[in-house]
Amino acid sequence: MKFTVVWLALVVPAFSLENGLLRTPPMGWLAWERYRCNINCKEDPDNCVSENLFVAMADRLAEDGWRDLGYVYLNIDDCWMAPERDENGLLVPDPERFPHGIKYLADYAHARGLKLGIYEDMGNKTCMGYPGTTLDKVQLDAETFANWTVDMLKLDGCYSTVHDRAKGYPAMARALNATGRPIAYSCSWPAYDDGLPPKVNYTLLIEICNLWRNFDDIQDSWESVLSVVDWYTEHQDVLQSVAGPGHWNDPDMLIIGNYGLSFEQARAQMALWTIFAAPLFMSTDLRALSPQNMDILQNKLMIKINQDPLGIQGRRVLTTKQKIDVFLRPLSKEAKAIVFFSRRVDMPHRFQTSLRALNFTDSVVYEAEDVYTGGIISGLTADTNITVVINPSGVVMWFLYPIMDLENPMVGKTRPWL
Ligand code: GLA
Repeated sequence: MKFTVVWLALVVPAFSLENGLLRTPPMGWLAWERYRCNINCKEDPDNCVSENLFVAMADRLAEDGWRDLGYVYLNIDDCWMAPERDENGLLVPDPERFPHGIKYLADYAHARGLKLGIYEDMGNKTCMGYPGTTLDKVQLDAETFANWTVDMLKLDGCYSTVHDRAKGYPAMARALNATGRPIAYSCSWPAYDDGLPPKVNYTLLIEICNLWRNFDDIQDSWESVLSVVDWYTEHQDVLQSVAGPGHWNDPDMLIIGNYGLSFEQARAQMALWTIFAAPLFMSTDLRALSPQNMDILQNKLMIKINQDPLGIQGRRVLTTKQKIDVFLRPLSKEAKAIVFFSRRVDMPHRFQTSLRALNFTDSVVYEAEDVYTGGIISGLTADTNITVVINPSGVVMWFLYPIMDLENPMVGKTRPWL
C-alpha cells in the first residue's frame, strides 16, 4: 500500500497550472511606465493613479478602436493601495483615489468588453512600499482579487528573499487556481533572479505563470529599448525556447506615445516586440496620442503577426558590420515576419541581401507585404537580390508568405494566409 502511494506521488506532477489563458500574447494598457507612483491627485487630478485615470483609459480603449483590435487588458500597477491592510488583514485600495473600490473598476471594464489587471508583490512590501503579499497572505489575497472579479495579476518581487519567491510564486498560482476564477498570472520572479538558468527554472515557470518579466524595467528612452533588445538577443537561445501559447517572455511595456522615442524608434519598438511574441501593453496617455503613433499601435497586420496562433518567438538571424540586424519570426501557414533593423546613426541605409542569406531554401517562391507601407514585393526566390532602405534607428518589416513551392505544388493554390 505504502509502495503504491509513493509511485503515485512520482508520476503525478505536484500540480500544473495550465489555466488555458493567454494562448496569444496579452494586449492592453498598463499604468506603470507612464504614470509611475503619481499619487498627487490634488495638483495633478488627470494623471494621478486613481479611479479617474483607469475610467478614462477604459473609455479610450473601448471607444477608440483598441478593444476591437485585441487591446483588452486595463492593468493597474503599483500605488493603488491604502498604506495598510484593514483590521481583517485584507488589502484595501486608497479610499480617496479609488472611492468606489476595485470591483467597481472591474465592473466598469467588463461592461465595456475589457478585462481588469491588478498588481501585488510577493514580499513584505511592493516596490513603492505598499503592503505586500507575505507567504501567510497568499490565499487571502488571491481570494480578494477573485472577489473583485479581477482578470490578471502582476506579482512583483521587491522586498522578497530567494526563499519567499521559490515558495510564494507557485503558492500564488495554486491559490489563483483554487478561486475558480480565470486570472492570468504575470510573474516578475525571473527578473529578481537575474533572468537566466540555472537560477531561473523556466520549466516550472511555464507550468505556473502565463508571462514573466526577466529583465530590467523599461524607461522612457531609446537607450532603454535598445538595452532590452540587446539582452533578449544575447539570450535568444534560452528565451526563444521557453515562450509559447499560454507562457510568454515579457520585455516590458510599449513606450510609444511618450517622450523618449522618435517616429522611427517607435516603429522599431513595435516591430521588435512583435518579433519577440511579446505582450503588447501600452503605457501611454491614450487621450493624447498622435495620429502617427496611433497608426503604429493599431497596425492590423502587425497585430495579426504578434498574435500568430503558433506563438513562436522570433530571433536575430543576421548581424552585419554595417550595423544592420535582421530578425525573423516563423508564423503559421509557413509565413514569416522579417525585421530589418538599423543601428546606424547616419542616414537611410541601402541594405542588400537575399533570402538565402537569411537561411531560406531553394524551392519556395514568396511574396512580401511591407507591414508599415502596405507595399507588395512578389516573386521572391532564395537568390533574388533584395534591397531595403532602412532609416537610422528604424526598421523595415515584411510579412512573407509562400506563393509557390516547386516541391509541393499545393502551396500557393489557396493562399490561406491572406
Ligand atoms: C518594479 C516593476 C515595475 C513596476 C514597479 C512598481 O520595478 O518591475 O514594472 O511594477 O516595480 O513599483
